[in-house]
Amino acid sequence: MPSILLGAAVDYNYLNSDSTYRETLKSNFSLLVPENDMKFAALEPAQGAFDFASGDALVNFAHSNGMWVRGHNLVWGEHLPDWLTQGKFNHDQVIAILKNHIETVVRHYRGNVISWDVVNEPFNGAHLRDTFWLRTIGPDYIAMAFTWAHEADPNAKLYLNDFGDDEIGPKFNAIYALATSLRQQHVPIDGIGMEMHIGFGAPANPHAVKVNMSRLKSAGLEVEVTELDVQIHNLPGSLQDKLNEQAAIYGEIATACRNAGNCDAFITWGLTDRHTWLTAILGHPDEPLLFDQNYHPKPAYFAVKAALYGSSTATVTATP
Ligand code: XIL
Repeated sequence: MPSILLGAAVDYNYLNSDSTYRETLKSNFSLLVPENDMKFAALEPAQGAFDFASGDALVNFAHSNGMWVRGHNLVWGEHLPDWLTQGKFNHDQVIAILKNHIETVVRHYRGNVISWDVVNEPFNGAHLRDTFWLRTIGPDYIAMAFTWAHEADPNAKLYLNDFGDDEIGPKFNAIYALATSLRQQHVPIDGIGMEMHIGFGAPANPHAVKVNMSRLKSAGLEVEVTELDVQIHNLPGSLQDKLNEQAAIYGEIATACRNAGNCDAFITWGLTDRHTWLTAILGHPDEPLLFDQNYHPKPAYFAVKAALYGSSTATVTATP
């Protein structure tokens, strides 16, 4: 495997309907992450009845084109089906449902998915987020999920993924404390995902990213940049100024990952500015990704390639 994989979150609907999307993806990325197609409600729309169709299609596309696949995600407070959240299940029943979900999904993709976001966004600031899982199972749901995922595929790398852990402060400290404590209890966690949706709050802080990656390394934990996108509407200057500043931010984060020694994947949350979740979230268009609306590479693309691979033309080879 190349030292750092360049990944993109991919939606089956676009992959299926747009040949330029497929071409751009396979020519430029070495890792595919399902943006929505492996979330709980997508995979288990009715209790015990699994639908792997679009997840499998993404895996098949990736493997036919020399790309690896990262699974996203097993346990999250969102994208849960109504049968689960409205089902009035008790504590033990929810544990059994979660165990069955994780075992079925991770076994299904065993050997074909190199890593999983096992627990997604479990923190709200320095405290565990008030989610369906915390309310019904309690804080042990996290250790349970990692343990079951590892049993189902001992070779997959297992991550806790969250946002705000690219800042120095209480949230990162709490994530770090939980991860190191899980390790001490021999719970199989490999690393921490840093989402990095840049533009919602504080400006990008590459120094903090570097410091946090280094702290994780000292604790023997890996790290991945899992959902990077950089909004430009709030950056100063002309469009060209904004795109240059965006490229600088992308480049600095990619450099932090490359130099960290424990960062093996750099993933953007989408592929083209034509399709980004931010349009719905922000309520207006932005241009947060590496390829523009017409699939042309942006300054940020060249900055990332240069930072990760040492030259703007370097390509990545991968043989899953
Ligand atoms: C987002 C997808 O991009 C959207 O298409 C979907 O409607 C909602 O979920 N953090 C995560 C991702 O971990 O799963 C989210 O993805 C974005 C925020």
